[in-house]
Amino acid sequence: MTIAITLIEGDGIGPEVTAATVRVLEATGVDFEWEPHPAGVAAMDEHGEPLPEALVESVRRNKVALKGPVTTPVGRGFRSVNVQLRKRLDLFAALRPIQTLPAIPGHFGNVDLVVVRENTEGLYSGLEHEVVPGVVESLKIITRAASTRIARFAFEHARAQGRKRITAVHKANIMKLSDGLFLQCFREVAEEYPDIRADDRIVDNMAMQVVVRPLKYDVLVLPNLYGDILSDLCAGLVGGLGVVPGANFGEGIAVFEAVHGSAPDIAGQNIANPTALIRSGGMLLEYLGLSEEARRVRAALDRVMAERGIRTADLGGTASTSEFADALVAEIESG
Ligand code: NAI
Ligand code: MG
Repeated sequence: MTIAITLIEGDGIGPEVTAATVRVLEATGVDFEWEPHPAGVAAMDEHGEPLPEALVESVRRNKVALKGPVTTPVGRGFRSVNVQLRKRLDLFAALRPIQTLPAIPGHFGNVDLVVVRENTEGLYSGLEHEVVPGVVESLKIITRAASTRIARFAFEHARAQGRKRITAVHKANIMKLSDGLFLQCFREVAEEYPDIRADDRIVDNMAMQVVVRPLKYDVLVLPNLYGDILSDLCAGLVGGLGVVPGANFGEGIAVFEAVHGSAPDIAGQNIANPTALIRSGGMLLEYLGLSEEARRVRAALDRVMAERGIRTADLGGTASTSEFADALVAEIESG
């Protein structure tokens, strides 16, 4: 059976890490049919718009996409393609598993956290305007519908994965209405899940807590901006952005992408770590019900990194992106 997947290679290190991921996923023997689509600057050049309709249609049709990072101009230019895509497809939940890998023991013990980020509103509504010269306003939108939906997603995920505790993260002491509503919806949903412990933390305290006692936490559910920031912070607990995978879920549709961005500082040098996107590819396999193939990808990553000591530069190794992928492909094909 052929499985059609929309492939957004993105820019910066995107083409390098997506090429590595496609090779690793194909090594499992699954018959993928990739539908490549440009996004961002590349799409501007080809189609005159950063998020072409053909790309959106392709994801709608295939229901699954693998996506590399797309650069967003800072302070000017087009709006984030990543944010727009999440909105267009209503990919309301970003799921980022933060786990210590056997190859990267680190200072924080055996971290096993899940970050669940609300993905469609909050301060990413893109509603900004100049009130009068020298005064601008960014609108933070929090709705009962989206807050309830993300809370329910977090509880359902926790239950399915046998997780025991969910912590809502907010700043409801200051933003009493917006974060207050987010927290209220979380508490209402929590009542439907008496088997799961529900509590909450104020976001600045949470940032300290995950560094000092990360093993105490299980699932975190956060509004958009806090989820974005704490995802990168948590990545730092387990080896950095080079290893943390992610997925964006809507109703019956999913886009798999790493937490990291396009890393322009190392782009085009064949040195980026493709592990984060490869692990996102592992999540894609699980989503498609291909658990055995997903297990083989995870096992290959552990063997190549932990046992054979083959790593990219961000983890202190000397392997290039493509050499690392070569080792994984050989491992999967021989395993
Ligand atoms: P970034 O995540 O691209 O890079 C931060 C740091 O981590 C850099 O030093 C980079 O070299 C390193 N890094 C990231 N991924 C790595 C990997 N796979 N292997 C080794 N090192 C890695 O964040 P930054 O620099 O703030 O953003 C760059 C661009 O990416 C911006 O235009 C931003 O808007 C965009 N971005 C896109 C995302 C997406 O497409 N989903 C997500 C985050 C940022
Ligand atoms: Mg981010």
